[in-house]
Amino acid sequence: MEEEPTDGIQHGHITSLSVMRTHRRLGIAERLMRLSQRAMAEVFNASYVSLHVRQSNVAALHLYRDTLGFEVEKVESKYYADGEDAYAMKMDLTDMQIKNVPEVDGEDADEGGEVGSMGKKGDDGKGGKENKEGKEKMIKVKVGRGLGVGDLVERNESTKS
Ligand SMILES: CC(C)(COP(=O)(O)OP(=O)(O)OC[C@H]1O[C@@H](n2cnc3c(N)ncnc32)[C@H](O)[C@@H]1OP(=O)(O)O)[C@@H](O)C(=O)NCCC(=O)NCCS
Repeated sequence: MEEEPTDGIQHGHITSLSVMRTHRRLGIAERLMRLSQRAMAEVFNASYVSLHVRQSNVAALHLYRDTLGFEVEKVESKYYADGEDAYAMKMDLTDMQIKNVPEVDGEDADEGGEVGSMGKKGDDGKGGKENKEGKEKMIKVKVGRGLGVGDLVERNESTKS
């Protein structure tokens, strides 16, 4: 996460991403990116994620633009020390922020006891339930005290019922 975002908007920034040569083309980078994006949005309330990539980096460009859906914001001339230009890229994460997830009560909230979808049973970071628009469906459910757990844990045992 950017600690002091110059635009005043909470966001993440990918400084460096690398997969060992022996383990490339296995989907590891895509998975890492998707999971980190989810954490940025769900845990840190990031509105977007940004990064820079060399114009000549075909593999990374394919990953960011074609696989993940980043958009080129601008070209930064001579961004790298060797004089190469960089694409400054950005991806919107507002759809993944918890505040934009509808709250569900009672019987509909049958998906484990936590808000959002990180760490959900069977979650591979890639898929999950999808709605009509093809987006992963997330619901906000009550946790802890909301489920009445507080009553059980904090019960005063000194008073006999
Ligand atoms: C870029 C890099 C991180 C990709 O890692 P990876 O684990 O091999 O990537 P994945 O297997 O998750 O592939 C993700 C997508 O990128 C594409 N891709 C990966 N390597 C590619 C290559 N050499 N040429 C074209 N596309 C490539 C894949 O086809 C895949 O897209 P698809 O599944 O839609 O077809 C890896 O090549 C790397 O570490 N490169 C050196 C460091 C670097 O350049 N980092 C980026 C700096 S910004």
